[in-house]
Amino acid sequence: MQIQENISLRQYNTFGIGAYAQYFSNFTSVDELLYITSSKKYNPALILGGGSNILLTKDVEGLVLKNGVKGIEKISEDESFIYVRAGAGENWHRFVQYCIAQNWAGLENLSLIPGNVGASPMQNIGAYGVEIKDVFHELTAVHLLDKAIKTFTASDCAFGYRESVFKRKYKGQFVITDVTYKLRKQPVFNTAYGAIQQELEKMKVKELSIQAISQAVINIRSSKLPDPAVIGNAGSFFKNPSIDKLHYTVLKEKFPAMVAYENEDGTMKLAAGWLIEHSGPGTGKSWKGYRAGDAGCHAKQALVLVNYGNATGKEIYDLSEMILQSVEEKFGVLLEREVNII
Ligand code: FAD
Ligand code: EPU
Repeated sequence: MQIQENISLRQYNTFGIGAYAQYFSNFTSVDELLYITSSKKYNPALILGGGSNILLTKDVEGLVLKNGVKGIEKISEDESFIYVRAGAGENWHRFVQYCIAQNWAGLENLSLIPGNVGASPMQNIGAYGVEIKDVFHELTAVHLLDKAIKTFTASDCAFGYRESVFKRKYKGQFVITDVTYKLRKQPVFNTAYGAIQQELEKMKVKELSIQAISQAVINIRSSKLPDPAVIGNAGSFFKNPSIDKLHYTVLKEKFPAMVAYENEDGTMKLAAGWLIEHSGPGTGKSWKGYRAGDAGCHAKQALVLVNYGNATGKEIYDLSEMILQSVEEKFGVLLEREVNII
């Protein structure tokens, strides 16, 4: 284990932003983490997984801790469930594929999400009708100040839509070192999301399986989301905002094509991608496909901001600010960033 100085983070974030870390260390065990953080010289400034949900707007002063804790282990099982623990540094999609190969069900809808296991509870990752909270059992985390090793259950994590206690009350305080998931021996298929059904039909699937659902999700995602290896991005840049019914009714009358879904509490969740596509710089223009220098808004998915090559984090951030203001002006809806701004 080594502590490196003045390291470019370009290869460590999927936006491909070339900010620098004053110090950088890749730890592979809890012991190594405790050892590195015992030195007062290196002030932990950023915990890093796969870097697929961050926007670096400046150089990082202090120590970047890249989580490389590996290992996948079946902990226990009962009649219905398998309990499987994975190290925070395991690649998420490889872990999903491993579970699917064992016929352990529950993660298939979350196929092909970039990043690592350790960040999955951070924002309660979600896609195609499933969120991590649906399969989460517990996690282990180390407190950066008192070095206490703590177990968090689902209720401790206070999961919400793209939310957890680690993004709020405990922001920057805990390093998640492993996560245990509760997976089903008998699958309960979730194909409620319209696009999955259409894709399964297109694939001519005769017998539904977790393998087929995973492949359908992979196909959908590959068709519309930009591959970070080709074009820098961090997935959805904003959350889908929720508004009350009254506000929704007024907007829907004015914009009948607006896309929205009803939440369990009766409020309405709007598709931020639609709002962004239907607003833009100047009259009648759309942000979708907009480009200023190397910062842009993806041509197939307006919710995804992209780096065509050499955009700075500040340029991407400034574009997000312009989008946010223009959506608020047109629809009276304030978007919230989903990506972690560093
Ligand atoms: P990072 O970007 O490295 O970190 C994210 C945050 O978590 C940071 O604040 C970081 O400090 C913190 N963190 C990371 N690891 C730890 C740890 N071990 N302990 C404590 N804190 C930690 N997300 C979805 O929910 N659904 C999607 O469908 C989805 N699609 C995406 C598609 C694309 C093309 C891309 C690029 C991203 C997408 N994302 C999606 C966002 C992203 O993949 C997830 O948020 C993912 O979980 C981030 O993992 P990461 O390891 O890259 O985290
Ligand atoms: N839409 C537009 N224009 C656009 C983009 C989308 O009109 O430019 C419309 C679509 O036509 C569709 C609706 O908006 O009717 C929803 O679009 P989509 O199914 O692509 O999903 P999303 O709401 O944009 C969310 C998540 C994704 C997740 C998908 C699938 C958020 C912020 N984003 O996107 O998560 O993969 O649903 O479940 O909730 C991420 O978090 O990074 C991410 C990619």
